[in-house]
Amino acid sequence: KIPSKFHYDLNGSIYFEKITKLKEYYVTRIEKKILKQVSNEMKNIFGTNLTFVEFGSGATDKIGILINDQVKFCMPLDISYDFLLKSSIKLAKSFPNLIIMPAYGDYINKFKLPKQISKKRIGFFLGSSIGNFYEKKEKIFLQNARKTLGKNGCLFVGVDLIKNKKIIEKAYNDSKGTTAKFNFNLLSRINKVFKTKLKLKDFKYFSHFNEKNNSVESFLISKKDQKFIIDNKKFFFKKNEKIQTEVSKKFTLNSFKI
Ligand code: SAH
Ligand code: AVI
Repeated sequence: KIPSKFHYDLNGSIYFEKITKLKEYYVTRIEKKILKQVSNEMKNIFGTNLTFVEFGSGATDKIGILINDQVKFCMPLDISYDFLLKSSIKLAKSFPNLIIMPAYGDYINKFKLPKQISKKRIGFFLGSSIGNFYEKKEKIFLQNARKTLGKNGCLFVGVDLIKNKKIIEKAYNDSKGTTAKFNFNLLSRINKVFKTKLKLKDFKYFSHFNEKNNSVESFLISKKDQKFIIDNKKFFFKKNEKIQTEVSKKFTLNSFKI
């Protein structure tokens, strides 16, 4: 099992961006629509001098929908360093009066925020990224986000609800093969970091919606017996052995209980 955060080097982030523009990947399109609908309502709730913190900010497009003159500080937080910088520069161009403080790190941790930012901290965890944790790690994320955001803080979490299996499965197995490329990028990253020589053609991408646990489970499957070497240590894949590359849990309003 590979935690989903390893997808996101610069290439992974670029592939994800492409996924968000696919017809089949409804998650981004629908969530943006919802954010546009609620943006006015949100304006009336929080008052002024706000700090927005976005966990796993990606392209920062979604937070861009919600930023208005009540927001003074914005902290996009992401593990994809180059993409974070690029997105923060883009955000700064769109909102010249906003004080932007990009933060690089793993969002599962507690973050110490700069002293000068306002205490009214509104967190956002969008895109149903809460569904990407293995082994109930979302609990640790939520506990730490609570500490990061402080006493007066609050957190908006975007979750993808369970829907027709065919719709879900198409979203993770699109006709252009972009999601497959996003997954194969993990192998390219392994080759780059560990100087291995894994061949992408020796693996196939497979994903399905497992109705027992309401999760999309994605895999790279070895097409043959093969070995690779890292630091003089040999590793083996058997034919049809699977590497789980992602879990994307889907929820009901009831199952999403904190
Ligand atoms: N919030 C955006 C992007 C979702 S993609 C949206 O809804 O469209 C997931 C984003 O979270 C990517 O930008 C990725 O780099 C980042 N990410 C994934 N795991 C992370 C982790 N453990 N810590 C910090 N950022 C992470
Ligand atoms: C970022 N995350 C919520 C996406 C998801 O839907 O699980 C990542 C993704 N993987 C394949 N397509 C999109």
